[in-house]
Amino acid sequence: MDISDEIETEVIRVNALQPEPSIIERAADVLRAGNVVVFPTETVYGLGADVFQPVALERIFLAKGRPHSDPLIAHIADEAALELLTTALPEQAKRLASAFWPGPLTLVLPRGPRVPYLMTAGLETVAVRMPRHPVALALIRALGSPIAAPSANRFMHVSPTTAHHVLADLGGRVPLILDGGPCEVGVESTVLDLCSDQPTILRPGGVSLEALRSVLPNVQPPRSRRVADALDLAGSEAAAQHSPGQMMTHYAPAVPLLLFEGSAASMRAALLAETRRRQAQGERVGVLVADEDVATFQHSGAIVCSLGNAANPAQIAASLFHCLRALEDAQVQVILCRQFDDGGLGLAIRDRLLKAASGRVIETDQ
Ligand code: TXA
Ligand code: MG
Repeated sequence: MDISDEIETEVIRVNALQPEPSIIERAADVLRAGNVVVFPTETVYGLGADVFQPVALERIFLAKGRPHSDPLIAHIADEAALELLTTALPEQAKRLASAFWPGPLTLVLPRGPRVPYLMTAGLETVAVRMPRHPVALALIRALGSPIAAPSANRFMHVSPTTAHHVLADLGGRVPLILDGGPCEVGVESTVLDLCSDQPTILRPGGVSLEALRSVLPNVQPPRSRRVADALDLAGSEAAAQHSPGQMMTHYAPAVPLLLFEGSAASMRAALLAETRRRQAQGERVGVLVADEDVATFQHSGAIVCSLGNAANPAQIAASLFHCLRALEDAQVQVILCRQFDDGGLGLAIRDRLLKAASGRVIETDQ
């Protein structure tokens, strides 16, 4: 298949709570035929293909423009499917699965012999998760096979949380999008490595570090993503080799983003000063803040987008990717954004913002 030949993309509305069996069957037929289907999960939309059809997996990489060095997550609907994917199920995996599956937790396990190396980027480990979205579960069951699915965005863009986002990135490149409305969690799953000495978070996401530690107290946090690290390119490339999707620029929006760190008051003051400075130069500025900050920017002339209540990280996470795309669509030349605390989903929010900023972080608490 040559991706320069545009294909027609069909978008079908599906009931998110009780998916219509006829629609699910149709989508499963597309997957069975070795093609790809975009479907909603509770985290973000996924670009799915049958795990055991390498030709179909190839189509994922082609549609996204994603390099083969970036491994895929296998999505399952019941724990019995783990037998197809892994050689051994560590005791820790069983405990985490019973606590968090179905849900936004991906476990990195030893690769089973049937899993194509295209799935794992040649690694001897495989990432597996059981999503909790009824459409995702119904589709996996209808296919009767695990579904490989990265986020359904073009490589390097932010993950899609609505079918509209998917269409903007993959329209003309995929045959079918199931539209189940906006995703509930809004950031991707937590990826937890169970193949190293200690269970270690490779990507913070929809299940918090605190929640994981309530089941396994020795879960290790992700490699620190403080400012110094963000600028330490050698370090981030070493990390990228271990978990290839973790490159600093992975979630970059199309517009440069400057991230402001510090106390709420000093972030606000610095954001306003930078907004004014840029406006005076005739720049079109987008500001990404929380509800409590909005009044400060009322007469600034900037395009202001609020992520929600800063004390409610679940709310911030749910609107994060949508707001980044909304500011892109508003054709701002720069996005000035505040940082958030790291409790609960805050760790994932901070991670995605740091990646979106590609190291452009301004410390305001001097
Ligand atoms: O929430 C999610 O996880 C979404 C939905 C669609 O399920 N999927 C998703 O997939 O975010 P993707 O491909 O965009 O991100 C997968 C992440 C990457 O960071 C990748 O490096 C990591 O999982 N990963 C996959 N297999 C791995 C492996 N064997 N070892 C280490 N990391 C792995
Ligand atoms: Mg992704």
